[in-house]
Amino acid sequence: MYVYALSVSGILVKAVAALWLAIPALAANSTAVLFGGGTPIDFGRTFPDGKRILGNGKTWRGLIGGGAAAAFIGMIQQIISCYIHTPYLPVFSMVPSEAIGIPIVLGYGALIGDSTGSFIKRRLGIGRGQKAYLLDQLTFLIVALFFVAALYHSFFMEYFWNISALTMLFIITPLLHRIVNIIGYKMGYKDVPW
Ligand code: CTP
Ligand code: MG
Repeated sequence: MYVYALSVSGILVKAVAALWLAIPALAANSTAVLFGGGTPIDFGRTFPDGKRILGNGKTWRGLIGGGAAAAFIGMIQQIISCYIHTPYLPVFSMVPSEAIGIPIVLGYGALIGDSTGSFIKRRLGIGRGQKAYLLDQLTFLIVALFFVAALYHSFFMEYFWNISALTMLFIITPLLHRIVNIIGYKMGYKDVPW
């Protein structure tokens, strides 16, 4: 019984910690809409298939602003975690350069992933702002995780590379994505609620 309770709390710690540490990726993706607008990342250019490379939904302002927001939010999280000592809310790293670098990589990784999703959508003939369920909701997470795995491998292995963490992230991310987009739509930031 004790061992069982211990393992259940272990699963929960891993799941919650992963969600906490993934916040910069989730935040970059949802704040891009607040900063977005202006010059598109693809400068309006088309791909050889005649369709836009990324489309007007991916802008430099969204990319830079969303990444900066991720870095800022990561910094706040790091401060919170330093004061609240709980395994549920771990620090990114005790090494200052990593504590700053990991949220930045998560944030920009998420936004590069988001643009990758748009690139694939355009190639499939899915217009800007049109729904593409898994592409819209999970590409940014997968690419963000991929970037952290490449650049901060031991951090990735410690916090993200386990079943509890991955299950949590892959279930919560589409749900959060949906909720944030509905809020963005109601607040007038988005034209469509997805
Ligand atoms: N946005 C931006 N720059 C980014 C990402 C998002 O400016 N790098 C802004 C755009 O105004 C975009 C809005 O956030 O319309 C919502 O983002 P998203 O749903 O990802 O874009 P869509 O307009 O749906 O375009 P796509 O079909 O290419 O995903
Ligand atoms: Mg969209």
